[in-house]
Amino acid sequence: MKVVLGVSGGIAAYKACELLRLFTESGHEVRVVPTRDALRFVGEPTWAALSGHPVTAEVWDDVHEVPHVRIGQAADLVVVAPATADVLARAAHGLAGDLLTNTLLTARCPVVFAPAMHTEMWQHPATLANVATLRERGSIVIDPAVGRLTGADTGPGRLPDPAEIFQICLRVLRGRPRDLAGRKVVVSAGGTREAIDPVRFIGNRSSGLQGYALARTAAARGAEVTLVAANVALPDPAGATVVRVESTTELREAVLTASGGADVVVMAAAVADFRPATRHESKIKKSDGEPEPIHLVKNPDILAELGERRPSHPQVIVGFAAETDDVIANGRDKLRRKGCDLLVVNQVGPGLAFGTPDNAATVLVADGDPVEVPRGPKEDVADAVWDLVAARLT
Ligand code: CTP
Repeated sequence: MKVVLGVSGGIAAYKACELLRLFTESGHEVRVVPTRDALRFVGEPTWAALSGHPVTAEVWDDVHEVPHVRIGQAADLVVVAPATADVLARAAHGLAGDLLTNTLLTARCPVVFAPAMHTEMWQHPATLANVATLRERGSIVIDPAVGRLTGADTGPGRLPDPAEIFQICLRVLRGRPRDLAGRKVVVSAGGTREAIDPVRFIGNRSSGLQGYALARTAAARGAEVTLVAANVALPDPAGATVVRVESTTELREAVLTASGGADVVVMAAAVADFRPATRHESKIKKSDGEPEPIHLVKNPDILAELGERRPSHPQVIVGFAAETDDVIANGRDKLRRKGCDLLVVNQVGPGLAFGTPDNAATVLVADGDPVEVPRGPKEDVADAVWDLVAARLT
């Protein structure tokens, strides 16, 4: 596939080198079209060497080949990463002062913008209006990640991880639908930790991979995603707002807050059913006698709570379960008990479920027949869940 990688003049331009590598190493032909300012951050030789194609910001080079029209016409995808406030403004207004903006005007393929800038610039009404215009015209504008910006400040405005931008682009190239556009989705992921003392906790083996795959695919399908992440060491999925929590109490608070206006809530997190009755303020020391027993108390069941207090608008609630025996019967019982619409029952086994890239599941449907999702990447399992969710939303 032919990809145009537009790079505009932000410090995150260096991260676009990695995005370029991901495209070329997976067999895509990439033309890099930087702006003049992008070349102040990363020079022409780097882009040319990594892409294997000549690189210019100008419309006046190789004019006999009419590059200002041809590059856009030939592309299967244009991705602008990083997209500065300036390039978003120029794209929204149809300006054509350099090769990149000419390319954006001539491209008839999907266009993805990955903005990166300081929070003030991202939240400025002018930028918000330009982003809204571009989205109305069908461009995909990925919400920037929240985190450390250039200098000491933090906030929304970071370029998402290049691998995450790449995943979104691959889905666009494959023509995956954006059927969750306009939907608000909450996904919980990871595993909660219940503190025993300041250094110890009771936890579980959840890696967060399945929950992150759900958040990543929902964002790629156009949803506004809040990802409540319990102790996950993975890069933020592009476009999702990530809320980090540790304990079940914090997870409950974050999920209930975010779920109020949500169309879909997916509880993929492995939630501790119990927590120590008391959290020692200081580290428990070894003593000569027998150790003190740890008394446990029950945690609230967040999924059951969501099922009980549904909002006035329609909301699809999805639960997860890991079962080893009587998968369907136990799952059905759990689905009923927890009052959810769909229950994704993971088959626990070698190379499946915890910490692995693959999964296989049976999705139990409250008012229908179960759907088998064959073994495959967690993204495929996530897409199968979203297919069922999307069908219920319409
Ligand atoms: N869950 C939850 N709150 C809890 C425990 C679980 O919201 N305190 C959610 C999980 O996120 C998952 C689903 O409930 O979506 C199933 O969790 P599981 O622990 O398998 O359910 P249990 O009812 O605890 O069943 P079991 O007896 O098999 O442990």
